[in-house]
Amino acid sequence: MRTLIVNGTVVNADGRLDADVAIENGRFQSIVPKSGGGIVPGPDDRVIDATGCLVVPGGVDAHVHMQLDTGTTVSSDTFLSGSTAAAHGGTTTIIDFSEQRTGGNVLQSFEKRMAEAEGQCVIDWGLHQVLGGVDEQALIDTRSLIEREGVASIKLFMAYPGRLYSDDGQILRALQMCADTGMMAMVHAENGLAIDVLVEQAVAAGNITPDFHSRTRPPELEAEAVHRAGVLARVAGNAPLYIVHLSSSHALREVVEARSRGTNIFAETCPQYLHLSLEDHLGQGWPNGAAYICSTPLRSKHDHHQADLWEGLRVDQLAVVSTDHCPFCLREQKLANGESFNVVPNGIGGVEHRMDLVYQGVVAGHISEERWVEVCATAPARLFGLPQKGAIREGLDADLVVYDPAAKQTLSQATHHMNLDHSAYEGMDITGKVRTVLSHGEVIVDGGQFFGAAGRGRYLRRAVSQHIR
Ligand code: URP
Ligand code: ZN
Ligand code: ZN
Repeated sequence: MRTLIVNGTVVNADGRLDADVAIENGRFQSIVPKSGGGIVPGPDDRVIDATGCLVVPGGVDAHVHMQLDTGTTVSSDTFLSGSTAAAHGGTTTIIDFSEQRTGGNVLQSFEKRMAEAEGQCVIDWGLHQVLGGVDEQALIDTRSLIEREGVASIKLFMAYPGRLYSDDGQILRALQMCADTGMMAMVHAENGLAIDVLVEQAVAAGNITPDFHSRTRPPELEAEAVHRAGVLARVAGNAPLYIVHLSSSHALREVVEARSRGTNIFAETCPQYLHLSLEDHLGQGWPNGAAYICSTPLRSKHDHHQADLWEGLRVDQLAVVSTDHCPFCLREQKLANGESFNVVPNGIGGVEHRMDLVYQGVVAGHISEERWVEVCATAPARLFGLPQKGAIREGLDADLVVYDPAAKQTLSQATHHMNLDHSAYEGMDITGKVRTVLSHGEVIVDGGQFFGAAGRGRYLRRAVSQHIR
């Protein structure tokens, strides 16, 4: 059976068009402009009327943490609940992480993570490989993941000493491997050694409220790490480098500077840095302030970070918006180890709201509809080796969202689908709402109702980024 999406405005990264879309066998079959008469439905066609709506590619969230084991707790969304919430928000592909800890084995970590995710996701999914301990064997094994498992990206940490941290020598070695293979190196860029000193000093002085999480992770220490990562990537032979969860003007300036030197550097920001700030939220104290503890941290709204991040998105200094979805329930998880900022698990849940929250940039005039599509779908698909995703084009996977740009909604824990007992965006009134979501041509969400099923999502073998090779 053919499915037709009629009377909508098709928005791709490279332009918009009043057009009808035909889908057959899970792929886009044709996009026919209304000016040319559109598509005349046949008797057997399923017709979805998108009058007044935008018709956009399904979102690609390249940075999520479902059921992430931190060592003391596990993030509260499973692959099933988190991917269901993502689908409700118009995201049809997620990329999570397999995590090798210091001393651990890369291939075993990958098999364990595959076993956790397989048969669970309601939308398509892939995995990046975290290297928590870069040694010769880890690099050999990681190289082999490209062919064996279709994993074309790694993540390295300049933060979290003793847990996931790599020193500069280890990072250089991993970046050399990326320069050689074309694998994308995602880097958590914060100077973890310096941060740990500030944390120790704050705790010793009795400064333990949630805001001290941000105060002990100043933007200068993010910027310094971005700069260092850029230098190391260049020295390594211009490895493809992707800075995750960039949160500050300071760090953004370093990305721009590195790009001006020819560094192969890209960066993502996240909805929390575009909408939430230190003053709004961390001032709340315990327990609610704990909800906003994430790394990199929320920044002060007085320092123009948010304005700079929106501008960075507009002019392509920032390539992508991902969520870094890492949900922990407030009392049972965030506060389980006590009321001191340094023992609170880091992370904010938001996989359901990314398309909506970035769309607020369209509403406010910061970015165009095309750019919204590009940073939420097209660019992450290209950067992470998913040429079949991120655009409404003949032959590509029919992952699509019918988005009502005029609908109003209020974000709330009472209505979200994430397995999370609070919402970082509680009470936020926004314009724009997902109406219908298709994955491989199947309607999985319509009018807030869910029609998907566990395990229908496909594991995505990914290739080396089209941006790079
Ligand atoms: O606070 C965060 N971002 N937690 C998730 C792990 C990470 O650093 O990306
Ligand atoms: Zn990180
Ligand atoms: Zn993360």
